[in-house]
Amino acid sequence: MGPGSGAGATVSGSDRNAGEAASASPTAPTALDCRPMLDGKRILLIVAGGVAAYKSLILVRRLRERGAAVRAVLTAGGAEFVTPLSLAALTEDKVYQELFSLTDESEMGHIRLSREADLVVVAPATADLMAKMAAGLADDLASTALLATDKPVLVAPAMNVEMWGHAATQANMALLERRGVLRVGPGAGDLACGETGSGRMAEPEEIVIAIEAALAGRASGALAGRRALVTSGPTWEPIDPVRYIANRSSGKQGHAIAGALARHGAEVVLVTGPTHEPDPAHVSIERIETAREMLDACMAALPADIAVCAAAVADWRVREAAGEKLKKENGGLPALELAENPDILHRLAGLDNRRPPLVVGFAAETENVVAHAREKRRRKGCDWILANDVSPGTGTFGGERNTIHLIDEEDRVEDWPTAGKAEVADRLALRIADRFAAA
Ligand code: C5P
Repeated sequence: MGPGSGAGATVSGSDRNAGEAASASPTAPTALDCRPMLDGKRILLIVAGGVAAYKSLILVRRLRERGAAVRAVLTAGGAEFVTPLSLAALTEDKVYQELFSLTDESEMGHIRLSREADLVVVAPATADLMAKMAAGLADDLASTALLATDKPVLVAPAMNVEMWGHAATQANMALLERRGVLRVGPGAGDLACGETGSGRMAEPEEIVIAIEAALAGRASGALAGRRALVTSGPTWEPIDPVRYIANRSSGKQGHAIAGALARHGAEVVLVTGPTHEPDPAHVSIERIETAREMLDACMAALPADIAVCAAAVADWRVREAAGEKLKKENGGLPALELAENPDILHRLAGLDNRRPPLVVGFAAETENVVAHAREKRRRKGCDWILANDVSPGTGTFGGERNTIHLIDEEDRVEDWPTAGKAEVADRLALRIADRFAAA
């Protein structure tokens, strides 16, 4: 049982997962409308032990306003921060806390609890609970429900910046994402522990958007029966057997798009250059190194209904890569003669009978973003261009967030709010699903 002390953000002496500040996020999204977008949806909300647990009370309000039924599991750590009474009042339901409780089990066995939901949401998701999920441990009700569930799981991590950045936490997160666990946040900012950095739990409104996207994708399978081809990451162009020309692309956005399209039911082939990104779930992966290999893999993946070219393909390669390592002892400087690489987006958009009906490109620009992107859309012959500002200081290239302007087939511009790359991917997948629904 929880201590039953005052509700809300009571900070205990525990130093565990103290990564949250009470101040508003500098990137808090605008208020949601209150349409019952989640009517009839059932959410199992697992509240673990972090200061951010107070935001989970607001999350329950937002979910209820939108028509969802919320059932809560409160961990022992979570009960140090919010009371079962607050959660019960807001969910208008019993709050489940104990694995070996005769009353809980007779009312609702933990297996049923984990399955009688459309989505399991862990907010805040602590480093400890994510480690248990990654290891498959089941020593309390929350971890057992997470192991027993057959439903999609969305985590909203919240913790101290060092805990989030720790190799163990990052490895656990990557493993969970590879298994198909969805994530929202964390964001950067001031943390309750007094430090600054990444680790703030996503705002309740952002979590609601992620929940809607997860449920829309899974429930509607709006892209079921569609084939999608996505390119991602950099290409490596060899100079000799040990050296190559490359760029700083992380592959984050392309991988997130591949995952989002798959969640919406599409059959996805991801053609990727070398990255450190985890493989998205339910996607078939073709790994390549050079632009010419990427082109071949893309052509082999056709036919497709959708092509999204998010890769940062090297514009040039070394015309004749040396067969042996170039030796500086030979004296002089090697003269590298360059040759132009194929433009994969342009090729896909220019195909005759095998052209995917929707071809989407990216335009990374540093000035006059929209004007340049419009021009690029025409030059490449693609249907949509997602333009983003990659000027130094925006942190877009290799970073976590992206500000997109979508230019559509009619040359109209949609300005999307700055969002995490996963949210951008979900939004694009929904937009693609809408376009096919309207066709
Ligand atoms: O010409 P630029 O590199 O700015 O165009 C960016 C868009 O074109 C991206 O969608 C990128 O994936 C695609 N591209 C490509 N093959 C290339 C160069 C760019 O598919 N060789």
